[in-house]
Amino acid sequence: MEKRTQIHLGSLVGCVFICVLVFSGVCSLDNGLARTPPMGWMAWERFRCNVNCTEDPENCLSEKLIKKMADRMVSLGLLDVGYEYVSIDDCWPTKERDSNGRLVPDPTRFPSGMKALGDYLHSKGLKFGIYEDFGTKTCGGFPGSEFYMSTDANTFAEWGVDMLKFDGCYSNINDMEIGYPTMEFFLNKTGRPILFSCSWPAYTQGIKTDYKLIRENCNMWRNYADIQDSWDSTYGIINHYGINKDGFSAFAGPGGWNDPDELIVGNFGLSYEQERAHMGMWAMMASPLFMSVDLRSIRNQSLALLKNKRLIAINQDPLGTQGRRVWKESDVELWVKPLQTEGSLAIALLNSGNQGTPKRLSLPALSLMLTNPLGYNLTEAFDGASMGSVFPNDTLKFSLNPTGILMMTAVPKVSSANLLMSLIFGQ
Ligand SMILES: *[C@@H]1O[C@H](CO)[C@@H](O)[C@H](O)[C@H]1NC(C)=O
Ligand SMILES: *[C@@H]1O[C@H](CO)[C@@H](O)[C@H](O)[C@H]1NC(C)=O
Ligand SMILES: *[C@@H]1O[C@H](CO)[C@@H](O)[C@H](O)[C@H]1NC(C)=O
Ligand SMILES: *[C@@H]1O[C@H](CO)[C@@H](O)[C@H](O)[C@H]1NC(C)=O
Ligand SMILES: *[C@@H]1O[C@H](CO)[C@@H](O)[C@H](O)[C@H]1NC(C)=O
Repeated sequence: MEKRTQIHLGSLVGCVFICVLVFSGVCSLDNGLARTPPMGWMAWERFRCNVNCTEDPENCLSEKLIKKMADRMVSLGLLDVGYEYVSIDDCWPTKERDSNGRLVPDPTRFPSGMKALGDYLHSKGLKFGIYEDFGTKTCGGFPGSEFYMSTDANTFAEWGVDMLKFDGCYSNINDMEIGYPTMEFFLNKTGRPILFSCSWPAYTQGIKTDYKLIRENCNMWRNYADIQDSWDSTYGIINHYGINKDGFSAFAGPGGWNDPDELIVGNFGLSYEQERAHMGMWAMMASPLFMSVDLRSIRNQSLALLKNKRLIAINQDPLGTQGRRVWKESDVELWVKPLQTEGSLAIALLNSGNQGTPKRLSLPALSLMLTNPLGYNLTEAFDGASMGSVFPNDTLKFSLNPTGILMMTAVPKVSSANLLMSLIFGQ
């Protein structure tokens, strides 16, 4: 069966890459980070570029807000289940660099400074994420890193930053193949392991995207439009991952991940059924899990979904294989993600349609890729309920809610080694 082999290839331009042979010899960035999809909270989708603390003191992007979210991550038990990065997005600095060319956190919103904020997060056992942009300006019009990459990398390391999201506004996409690796070079030179999140392929998609080079330089990479607070946006991203243009899903694995953007679970735009589909699919796609939600007022049901240990285990499975869409017929689609336990699978049936009655399906187990003749134990993925034994010759019946998901894990009753023995020697 599929076995992952890791080897060191030796020095290449001063860098040692880890190669995962399963992915056609594609090397990952070797900073020791993101061996499973990173998890945390990110400001952008929910709080945006809200900089007016006079008008909106409780929700403006400020150290007060970030600390509050950090406190809630701990008290709600989110850190315990793996959400560890707290990432400030765009709009944190002043509009000008200081006289030494260094970025300055906005003094009215971050009066204690970023070093102090980093210390606060670290004292809680959390990690500190920050945002910059490869171009001359950030998307929100704040100073970009172009021509200041070395300075900015050093500044971030001094502040104790653990993760950098590096956007691509106000830049030339032809420069990205040099620019992003250059920033990674400077991050590496700081000596501080800093998770590097690149927006690079989101800008070059459909034009020229070298995923091999991206995986060698980034721990995660956005490759599609920003998520917005709606099912249309969420399903648009899922469908993009289903189409899998340029075969980008093959480039995900320990050390580097495709990033379909933040989780919007707990916000305004999704029904509970859609939140389940969203969370389930992010688990199937081995996506980084960055919540973007107000943790002061999140609904209990949504919080429970974000903390669902079975879904998180599928997402964090050490094999690190991104699930793929195996078939799609009208509104119904099947996704399969191989898991580390030999021959095990996570399986998702998604109904993207909105016809108001559940779709009834009758499917041969074989069409769900359940091929092991000795059968599987099937378990419902959200609540862990046993769904019994299933053999390839079985027919399975499902009922799929509108914009809903059914997810299960299938564990072979006997390992493939034993299977081989039983085929040779009989049961
Ligand atoms: C820098 O890169 C080298 C070579 O790839 C690697 O061994 C080292 O761990 C990296 N250091 C950091 C801090 O990322
Ligand atoms: C914040 O909002 C108030 C009230 O609308 C306005 O008077 C003020 O100019 C705004 N401040 C900034 C920095 O935009
Ligand atoms: C949500 O959970 C909290 C903590 O368990 C509990 O105190 C509260 O009553 C719950 N709220 C609702 C609406 O169920
Ligand atoms: C399906 O396969 C299993 C295991 O090989 C066997 O025990 C069972 O009788 C088969 N069922 C049918 C309906 O053929
Ligand atoms: C499958 O389920 C049966 C019955 O619950 C159990 O005895 C067996 O250990 C399970 N096998 C695996 C591989 O989980």
